[in-house]
Order: sequence, then C-alpha cells, then structure tokens
Amino acid sequence: AGIEFGLDAPYAVEYHDAVGSTNDRARTLAEEGRSDVVVVADEQTGSRGRLDREWVAPSGGVWVSVLIRPDVAPARAPVFTLAAAVAMTDACREAGVDAGIKWPNDVLVRDAGDAGTDGSVSGRGGRKLAGILTEMEGEADRVSWLVLGIGINANIDADALPVGATSLRVERAGPGNTTEGTATADIDRRRFVARLLERFAELAADPDAILPAWREHAITLGRRVRVETSSGEVIGTAVDIEPPGALAVETDDGRVRVHAGDCEHLRDA
Ligand code: BTN
Repeated sequence: AGIEFGLDAPYAVEYHDAVGSTNDRARTLAEEGRSDVVVVADEQTGSRGRLDREWVAPSGGVWVSVLIRPDVAPARAPVFTLAAAVAMTDACREAGVDAGIKWPNDVLVRDAGDAGTDGSVSGRGGRKLAGILTEMEGEADRVSWLVLGIGINANIDADALPVGATSLRVERAGPGNTTEGTATADIDRRRFVARLLERFAELAADPDAILPAWREHAITLGRRVRVETSSGEVIGTAVDIEPPGALAVETDDGRVRVHAGDCEHLRDA
C-alpha cells in the first residue's frame, strides 16, 4: 500500500500491509534474539498508546517500531525516547509542518504562542501529530531490549482522526484548502521514514546531544503545566528537562522533578 520498503537505513526493515501492533511484532522479534530491526506497517488493527490508551492507526500513517539493545542501564533508557521525539519532530518539520515536543514525547503542531515564553496564548496549535510508546525489558544494570513505538499521523484525513489529533496531510493542506484528501498534501512515507531513522540513529550514537536537541524542540519549556503523576498532580511552570528525561517544574512550593506522567499545557494567565 505504498511504503513497501527497501529502505536505505541503519536497520533491517520488516514491512507489513497490516499488523495488530508493530510494537507487539517487535517484542516477538526481541524474544527471538533479534536487534536493530524496524517493523513498519501501513495499518495496525490493535495498536496501543501510552497509559493503556487506544491508538487509532488506519492505512496511510507512519507506524513504526524500532528494536534496539543499547548498552546502558535501564535508568538511562528514557533518553532514547527523547531522541525519537526529536527525530520525529525534525522529520515533520522537513515535511513542512511546524512541530514541537510536549513533554515527555508527544509531537504537536506548534504555533506562534507555543514558541514564546512571553505568556502569549496558543491559537490553532496544540493538535497532536504523533506519539511514542516505549517498551523495555532489562536487568538491574543493563537494558536487554528496547522497543520504540512511533506513531505519526501522516497521510490521514481529518475524519479518520480522534478528537485533538491532526495529520501531516491535514496540516499541509491548510485550513480551507481543498487539497485535503488529495495526493498533493501527502508525504512520501518511504523518504520520511528513512529520514526519521537516519536522524534517530545519529542522536542515539551521540547521547550528549539528545537533551540539548530536545530542549530546542520543546513546546513545554517555559509553559504553565499540569502533570498527572502516580503520586498526584503537579502544577507550575516547566523550566527544564533533566537526565534521564525528568521535567523540572517550578511550583508554589519549590522546584519539583517529575519522572513520568501525563502533561497538559495550561493557558497562561
Ligand atoms: C501515545 O499514546 O501517544 C503513543 C502512541 C504510540 C503509537 C505507536 S504506532 C507504532 C507502535 N505500535 C503500537 O501499537 N503503538 C506504537
């Protein structure tokens, strides 16, 4: 269905027209001892999102799972998810859609309000283009395998997307532009994935470059946020990202580091 691979990538590529979940397939490959493999599908029938949420993955998207075995402690693994988010954001930008990262790893359309730390209010921005579901197995001191499940709404129409989501096709067509749903707004997924993987491999090979790149691509930093964590809600201003990927939030009671959670950008007062 259009992205059958022969990719020029630093990974072996396994392509499916349709699969339950590329992450599940990559986990099976991990159990078989494989590494440096990328599973790509045109469509997923049982795709999974973060926090046990459903992820809608119709034909036309970029549904990719990267299986690697980095030689790092499990505590350092989140940095690879950050690298994937940077690579996804760069690929979206190269496709002509101004994207940015919402902590920890959602790729959203950015607008003028998002770009500033001056309290300006978001307009059309904030719609979700892409997300990552990372899964891992490890021992105390070493990651055994890591699966980075990357979902990018690429050549998908608005009516096939969940509320709050958008696609590269919709954004490239532009509001009111009648090219929506036609090939002119579509990206070449094969080239897009090749670029995405190339950029990810580059960052994965240079871990010190990941956090600075993430900071540059972030929409969250400088924004008022509400983060739902397993131990309650944190509200304040997001001020930095700290190794291995914690969000530093300045709250009324001081600075708090949040390691995991669901982050919402608040409208600045
Ligand atoms: C999120 O909740 O934002 C993460 C969504 C991750 C979806 C991708 S699509 C490829 C891979 N396979 C899955 O089943 N999920 C991930």
